[in-house]
Amino acid sequence: MSPYLSILLLALCWFFPPGPAHGDPVRGKILFKEKKCLLCHDIALPGTEFKPMCPGLQGVSARHSREWTARWLKNPAAVWRTGDADVQDIDARYFNFRGSKPKPRESFMATVIGKQVILSGDEIEDLLDYLWTL
Ligand code: HEC
Repeated sequence: MSPYLSILLLALCWFFPPGPAHGDPVRGKILFKEKKCLLCHDIALPGTEFKPMCPGLQGVSARHSREWTARWLKNPAAVWRTGDADVQDIDARYFNFRGSKPKPRESFMATVIGKQVILSGDEIEDLLDYLWTL
């Protein structure tokens, strides 16, 4: 292969990297409203404030991996049941904000929207791209 062709191919891979499909943050922002996320989550508050009773989503990409958040949006009830490190972190922030002692609790997000809001894979990608701008 000519060196020029290799350089061209390298440049193409740089500009159009193969990999997981990505969504559209603008569509994600619209979905955030349409899917009622905005009713519960304040995007201008940090994750240490639960108002009215849900964490602010400022800087959420630093708290969870994209992969974890995709699973969370698909099925918060199932993720909550695992009690993994991310769930423990949310819970610790929640009880800290409430100023009360930790006790077992259900996922509020799963209880309220679990069965009503079913997101497609594309919708989740769009929402993630939007969340990653916060
Ligand atoms: C009924 C209120 C409610 C709705 C609607 C809701 N959430 Fe949540 N969300 C919560 C609560 C409460 C938590 C904290 C964990 C729990 O108790 O379920 C949470 C946690 C999260 C987290 C983790 C935040 C952190 O700081 O770790 C993300 C991300 C998230 N929600 C995104 C969304 C998106 C996107 C939508 C819309 C599809 C949505 N939520 C809809 C209540 C809600």
